[in-house]
Amino acid sequence: MLKVLLWILASIPSLDLCFLIFFEKLGANPQETLLRHLGTWTLVMLILTYSLPIIARIGVNKILSCRRMLGLWTFFYGSMHFLSFLFFENEMVLALFIEDLISRPFVTFGFFSFALLIPLALTSNKFSIKLLGKYWKKIHWLINPIVLMSIIHYFLHRTGKADFLEPFIALAIVLVVYVSKKLFTYKNFS
Ligand code: HEM
Repeated sequence: MLKVLLWILASIPSLDLCFLIFFEKLGANPQETLLRHLGTWTLVMLILTYSLPIIARIGVNKILSCRRMLGLWTFFYGSMHFLSFLFFENEMVLALFIEDLISRPFVTFGFFSFALLIPLALTSNKFSIKLLGKYWKKIHWLINPIVLMSIIHYFLHRTGKADFLEPFIALAIVLVVYVSKKLFTYKNFS
């Protein structure tokens, strides 16, 4: 039941986007709205997936069974965000993308956090867990640098506008989750 509910909730931003596109309600700069919308939801899904062990710890144990599903939704929104960037800002030209990757640090951080999501998405299944054994945990530890680089991407994106409220909120949530994880691990071993 929880899985179905979370699946429906996770799909709402994409349905909302389809609605906005269909009724031409994306505003004066539709490409920018689309890109930002997808970036925001990639980050929300990422932080939610990152927080699942803590949410489970504070009582909602069943939520851990939704980890794979939420991880895949993160990857879905990330892929759409990346593809819309390639399409709208680079016209799908590799040379233009490489130029951006080198010259715009916020694109560099965004790209590497997305690139690291790929092995996580590919190994989010029972077969890979069995096959990779202890290496599976090592690969999925990558969520830490992914979250960190995404937050840096968010801050760098906002430097032009000098508006850091939402990036600071995201950072505060991530820090609370990170410290809580460390505290729980420490408690378990002491
Ligand atoms: C895990 C990966 C990523 C996350 C979590 C993420 C997250 C975000 C967030 C939260 C925003 C700001 C939205 C807002 O201000 O409302 C954003 C903007 C943006 N991101 Fe990403 N991003 C990721 C990957 C990428 C990649 C791979 C690229 C391109 C190579 C990219 C390009 C952009 C661009 C161009 C914007 C600015 C849109 C604009 O203001 O016109 N991002 N991203």
